Amino acid sequence: MPFYLGLDASTQSLTALVIEIAGDRRRIVFESSLNFDEALPAYGTRHGVLPASDPSVATSSPLMWAAALDRMMGVVAAGVEVRQIAAISGSAQQHGSVYLSQQGSRVLASLDPTRPLAEQLSRSFSREASPIWMDSSTAAECAEITSAIGDAAMAARTGSRAFERFTGPQIRRFFKDSPVAYAATARIDLVSSFHASLLIGGHAAVDPGDASGMNLMDLRANRWWPDALDATAPGLGAKLPPIVASSSVAGTLAPYWQRRHGFPPAAVITWSGDNPSSLIGLGLVREGPLAISLGTSDTVFGLMNVPRVDPTATGHVFGAPTGAFMGLTCFRNGSLARERIRDEHGLSWSGFSRALDQTPVGNDGGLMLPWFGPEITPRVLEPGVRRLDLPSGDAARNVRAVVEAQCMSMAIHSRWMGVAAAVIYATGGASGNAQILQVIADVFGADVCRQPVANSAALGAALRAAHAALNAAGPAAEWEAVIADFSDGSARARLHPRRDHHAIYRELIPRYAAFEAAAITP
Ligand code: XUL
Repeated sequence: MPFYLGLDASTQSLTALVIEIAGDRRRIVFESSLNFDEALPAYGTRHGVLPASDPSVATSSPLMWAAALDRMMGVVAAGVEVRQIAAISGSAQQHGSVYLSQQGSRVLASLDPTRPLAEQLSRSFSREASPIWMDSSTAAECAEITSAIGDAAMAARTGSRAFERFTGPQIRRFFKDSPVAYAATARIDLVSSFHASLLIGGHAAVDPGDASGMNLMDLRANRWWPDALDATAPGLGAKLPPIVASSSVAGTLAPYWQRRHGFPPAAVITWSGDNPSSLIGLGLVREGPLAISLGTSDTVFGLMNVPRVDPTATGHVFGAPTGAFMGLTCFRNGSLARERIRDEHGLSWSGFSRALDQTPVGNDGGLMLPWFGPEITPRVLEPGVRRLDLPSGDAARNVRAVVEAQCMSMAIHSRWMGVAAAVIYATGGASGNAQILQVIADVFGADVCRQPVANSAALGAALRAAHAALNAAGPAAEWEAVIADFSDGSARARLHPRRDHHAIYRELIPRYAAFEAAAITP
């Protein structure tokens, strides 16, 4: 019976999830995660990021990602009957980029199944460390690109104004700092297309969902935008992968994986970004509901039939795997901010939840701006936590303050999407915490449904693989039919907003917005 494998290469871990779809048999048959810091300590990452003295710099190791993929494919092969795997797809942290040399292209095409993948790739990169989405070091490059293109034109054409973490500004910085290494770069991959390339043993394309996070793609045409390429770096077009539909076959699983781990020659479907993939994993294949992902980043997103670009220029419009669009706002201080408060006050996660239970809704007006690191939304390049009517030593009130700040900020900065969602689908590690979900429900005044599978990006990747394979094999398979039972909402736990609590937040949100605005005004 056919199995479909979804992989999710996130900031801190690699997850594999296998589903079976055969008539009425529709189930998850396998799920496993590998944490980079713990499983591959030799690479020296912390929370998946390489150490840096400059807080605006965030990079990771493409070799570590390759080692993780090699290890995980072995785990999958030991855990399921891999001969049944018909198709594979994946998702990855968005915006990060991988720089392969000519040598890298040759190595990819001739992988030796008797040797570890990372060992073979060790001299394949023209840039050893990959900038990732947490990097905010490219303010100067954003300004340069913006002065060439114009803020409004960039947002209207690509779906986002120039953002520090987006791939175009990152590429420009590399070109300026290391022109020789830039010239020696044969291919600039996204993290997603890099993983797909490893699987097919050749160069894989990118999908519109992930390519739209680069400040380089014409959102409506799904093509590289020549003006943006020119404003970014010379000769860039020749180094970028082609953009293809999300459901396109990238290639066949390379002989390396077949011989090394016993996989069949399965179809590899083009990878996407983790947020577009989560959209599918959560079942958001029509406009209406919103989703909140509580991971390393916190994101708010929803499907859009037409690209309505954010007039306040904080959010993004990306391509969606269905061929439509998605609106998204991203917050950098997500799980790491929650963890900082937990650790600063010596709490466990259950102590964190108890603190939420014990404190009054609205925190007696105590507010926090939880900018432990630089923040994406709103744009804060110099980190610093600020408190208002909130004693820093009060553990319980600081717990409530960080969660309320995150939820109010999500409500404020997702208004541009123009969706008054009656239902919000929650996913990501912290979505297991019912107290946090209750704050979301109360702040938004919406029902919150908890997805039974915490890693909706990996599930979305498996469903995307199934959708593409089923469509290639027979009569067109509708998205609703493919996702049914996995993410159609029937199995979800639902929390309802409390009317009196929502009233408190309606009063508090303008106060929070004013506190935030005052803090970011120069
Ligand atoms: C989205 C973003 C993050 C990463 C995290 O724009 O930057 O959500 O995709 O993996």
